[in-house]
Amino acid sequence: MSSTTIESLRGTVASYMGQKRFAHTLRVEAEALALADLFALSCEARTDLQIAALLHDITKERTLPEQIALCERFGIAYSEADCLSPKVFHARTGAAVAKELFPSLVNDRIYRAIERHTVAAPDLTLFEALLYLADYIEGGRTFPDCVRLRGFFYDGIQAKKEPLAHLDDTLLLSLDMTISDLLSEGAIVNEQTFLARNALLCKKKRV
Ligand SMILES: [Fe+2]
Ligand SMILES: [Fe+2]
Repeated sequence: MSSTTIESLRGTVASYMGQKRFAHTLRVEAEALALADLFALSCEARTDLQIAALLHDITKERTLPEQIALCERFGIAYSEADCLSPKVFHARTGAAVAKELFPSLVNDRIYRAIERHTVAAPDLTLFEALLYLADYIEGGRTFPDCVRLRGFFYDGIQAKKEPLAHLDDTLLLSLDMTISDLLSEGAIVNEQTFLARNALLCKKKRV
């Protein structure tokens, strides 16, 4: 992937969002690249992760009616519960819009990683997990859960924990925090988030 392509991708993404979100996007890009190196992704996967990071929030600033219109247009299913938890829409609509805008760049793994970056999934791949984590721990986030998760992850890496098992533990902590925050707010919890947490717990018990 040439640096010109990445630069023009950044330019297009910037036109879809305000400055604050674009700055977040660039930090997710940087974090995703750092994680790709840490987990020794291939050159091709590393570039795909960079593209996914740049595109992951492309529809985040669309209103709920706009999100619903995008779902209708792309044939994306949604539920009544989703409408009460509107943050979940941008991951699905973002994947579809990213694919429409950049059909030659957005392959299946990029599409799926964008689609799953908010609620996770029980069968999250390493590639998808790294985008999810990069979004959660990028350096500009100051929300206590994000600071805690960043510390937990990098402390474990520094302590030379086995990286994949430690990534699972990090994901589990992030899902626990997300679910408990949502419960304390009386908010809807997406079923995929519960399934993702349970799958990680089952995997841990098996080892
Ligand atoms: Fe997002
Ligand atoms: Fe994000």
